[in-house]
Amino acid sequence: MSRIVYVNGRYLPYAQAGVHVEDRGFQFADGVYEVCEVRDGSLVDEKPHMARLERSLAELAIPAPMSMAALAHVMRETIRRNQVRNGLLYLQVTRGAGPRDFTFPTSEVERTVVCIARPLAPEPLEAQATQGISVKSLPDIRWGRSDIKTVMLLPACLAKNAAREEGADEAWFIDNEGFVTEGASSNAWIVLDGETVITRQIAPAILAGVTRATLIEGLAREGISLVEQPFKLVEAQSAREAFITSATNTVMPVVRIDGRAVGDGRPGPIARQLRSKFHQFAAISVG
Ligand code: PDD
Repeated sequence: MSRIVYVNGRYLPYAQAGVHVEDRGFQFADGVYEVCEVRDGSLVDEKPHMARLERSLAELAIPAPMSMAALAHVMRETIRRNQVRNGLLYLQVTRGAGPRDFTFPTSEVERTVVCIARPLAPEPLEAQATQGISVKSLPDIRWGRSDIKTVMLLPACLAKNAAREEGADEAWFIDNEGFVTEGASSNAWIVLDGETVITRQIAPAILAGVTRATLIEGLAREGISLVEQPFKLVEAQSAREAFITSATNTVMPVVRIDGRAVGDGRPGPIARQLRSKFHQFAAISVG
């Protein structure tokens, strides 16, 4: 079966799908995106992903290309046409194409909409979760609006590559005061003695992760206490446990930070518990 991509109203074979050379997403990173987990053929946390997309568009004054319900339909149809059972869904909306000009187009320009669905075998991720991942810290050189999910991801690409060069799986960004902001493509969490879970509070410095929000509801259900506040790298290194969250990873234990073992260097019980229950939390959260 050939892969099908949605581009501006059409479902096209992967090799024929493309956007204009002067798309503002290409020239200025003038666009936003969402990544959702696909599980058993359905979108996980669809509503909060659509709500965040709507917010990202509004924050950048990009008019929505269609209603959120219509966009969600495109997403589901892309999953269906590609027969994805487990994998991810990528949706990107840019301000559109036009002669290169920093200021926004004055006339009405059609937004560019691209939707891609990709199967992802669960086994490698499960194997990684059993081992836990390692993280490298780097200065947070991103702009001041990391709460908007823009396609301006060069700092994240640089950070992830620097991490990979040192054999690490994810990068954690550190702000000017030495606090962890978040991962290059994930939210960062630690577990202190007494089983208190800590993650940074929502602010312009971080993305309001959908997985993060679902997990916070789950923590309450599990009776695990949560404190939303910044933490330093040394606190993370001496924490009992650490983990990251994202749509593609759900809950992924972190066992090394800058080469230092977290806890006993193995995935901790809280992270394992939260990972195993995550989709239950997501299902309750939708209903
Ligand atoms: N990234 N922080 C950043 C900077 C991210 O890029 C992401 C997600 C998250 C977690 O958000 P969520 O739980 O909604 O996935 C936090 C996606 C997966 C990506 O860019 O591929």
